[in-house]
Amino acid sequence: MGTIRVLEEIVASQIAAGEVVERPASVVKELVENALDAGAARIEVEVEGGGADRIRVSDDGSGMEGDDARLAFERHATSKIRSASDLQAIATYGFRGEALPSIASVSRTTLTTSPGGSGGGTRVRIACGAVVSVEPAPHPRGTTVEVEALFESTPARRKFLRTRATETGRVADLLARLAVANPGVSFVMKSGGRALASWPAVPGLGERVAQLLGPEESRALVDVDRREGGLRLRGLASSPSLQRTTSRDEHLFVNGRPIQDRRLLHAVQEAYVTLLPRGRFPVLYLFLEIPATEVDVNVHPAKAEVRFLRASAVHGLVRDALAAALGVSRPFARYEMAPRLDAARHGNVWGPQAGGPGVPHALAEPSPPPPGGTSRLQAGREDPLIDSVPIAPLAQFRESYILASAPDGLVILDQHAAHERVLYERYLAQSRAGRIERQRLLFPLTLDLSPSRRLAFEAAAASLEELGFGLSPFGDDTLRVDEVPALVGSADPARLVQGLLDELLEWSKAEGIERLRHRVVASAACHAAVTANQPLDGARMRQLVSDLMRTEHPMTCPHGRPALLRLGLDQLEREFRRR
Ligand SMILES: Nc1ncnc2c1ncn2[C@@H]1O[C@H](COP(=O)(O)OP(=O)(O)OP(=O)(O)O)[C@@H](O)[C@H]1O
Ligand SMILES: [Mg+2]
Repeated sequence: MGTIRVLEEIVASQIAAGEVVERPASVVKELVENALDAGAARIEVEVEGGGADRIRVSDDGSGMEGDDARLAFERHATSKIRSASDLQAIATYGFRGEALPSIASVSRTTLTTSPGGSGGGTRVRIACGAVVSVEPAPHPRGTTVEVEALFESTPARRKFLRTRATETGRVADLLARLAVANPGVSFVMKSGGRALASWPAVPGLGERVAQLLGPEESRALVDVDRREGGLRLRGLASSPSLQRTTSRDEHLFVNGRPIQDRRLLHAVQEAYVTLLPRGRFPVLYLFLEIPATEVDVNVHPAKAEVRFLRASAVHGLVRDALAAALGVSRPFARYEMAPRLDAARHGNVWGPQAGGPGVPHALAEPSPPPPGGTSRLQAGREDPLIDSVPIAPLAQFRESYILASAPDGLVILDQHAAHERVLYERYLAQSRAGRIERQRLLFPLTLDLSPSRRLAFEAAAASLEELGFGLSPFGDDTLRVDEVPALVGSADPARLVQGLLDELLEWSKAEGIERLRHRVVASAACHAAVTANQPLDGARMRQLVSDLMRTEHPMTCPHGRPALLRLGLDQLEREFRRR
């Protein structure tokens, strides 16, 4: 007897589900896309336990007749395409006929639906892929799908879920993306019975984005609109005053479908290269309109990626449209402008109150002796050269690097990275010792809280308090900032808190306060450190070099970039053929 066997339907469905349904947010994505395809004007999403316990999506769309409701759970059953040629011009989110059977194979699913009119509604119950019952049930025009006990039958998947707050945050982010693509539809989201988001229908993209970002942030957005070679890119993009520490708020849509695309993110990065420092990302909502025949949306089970016929034309359009909207005349040359912009941004680090004009206060401040005295000089070194102090500064190169001589070679310091390292370790020690000075803001700041930021704040409120932040929710979608850790100094506190909240939900629970401390301290150090293109005199260079040599990890900045390079004497002699 042969060993190859056709899998049972339920096993095949669970395997297919593995591709479509990764986590609660993917279930919500499929259900909300179905509601949008059904022409809903109002969609309500409720989750419990981050969506793992219960997800409920209700719409007032077309609804289904009884037979269709049953058929909807068959694999490859769809009303959206009929033949392979339809794949070339897909105008709906769905077309694979796989979402409902996949979801139903890894949960207990109940669908109640009615096309309205006098016929009444239908309820279909499915548990782990098997139909439990099909019966008449009342329902207004539209559909409600309830998904309970997600992944109960596939524990491996369930184990990979993150905390409730993180999963809920992902649902909220997902919903926000679909809401942006459909401003004419009302969205409501609840979690554990509590309202998390309510975005009533609005006339257009601008108003929808204002609902999501709040008035403050949305003021920083500029219009993007450009046509080129049968393509059109329109949307909103942030000027440099609004930036994030992750690329999570770079939203791309192709014919209304949210997608991820590395190449297009790269085009975005090229457009912003002279505007944002490395590691900073814009907020954008970009809609590419492209003939359906030029894009293949059927390359990814969750349709998160697409393939373009003319990929480089699309890339060029994104880059040029953004550059034009942002008023960048010669983009793509960081080395020309970035340092100057950087200097302008951190200009307030320098000031007369901090030891005379041109003296960065953090450098002028005497550094405390390292704990444990000079013996620590020898400890924990990555490079033997560092131990052979003294290292004497020779010159500053391009007002950004310090050249120094060591007994057995030449040393080059990146002055910003080096200073960041020095301040980072100093601040970290202060913070760990519990000596966190708090600084009361003269005028409290308010921050717009998206649902996922609110969840992040609630999850980390105690740690943020311990680290010296005085934060309090104010109404439903605002956070008040009254106090910040004093060491944050000249950094923009609103931006710092926002950056933390944006990242926090993705961290694992175990990392907790130490990772938060690292982020706060690293950010404070980065803001207070001398930047590139800052002239330093001999005394300040000596101070910086000696401070760096006394740190625990002199080789790198807190973000892991090199702070120091060496050119050994033996290498020099080899190069000059003295040996
Ligand atoms: N909320 C809804 N309102 C009306 N009809 C629905 C709804 N949800 C699903 N359907 C019907 O059930 C069918 C199957 O849905 P399902 O999500 O499984 O597949 P699809 O949307 O066609 O394709 P995909 O797998 O790409 O999402 C749909 O084609 C549609 O006819
Ligand atoms: Mg679908």
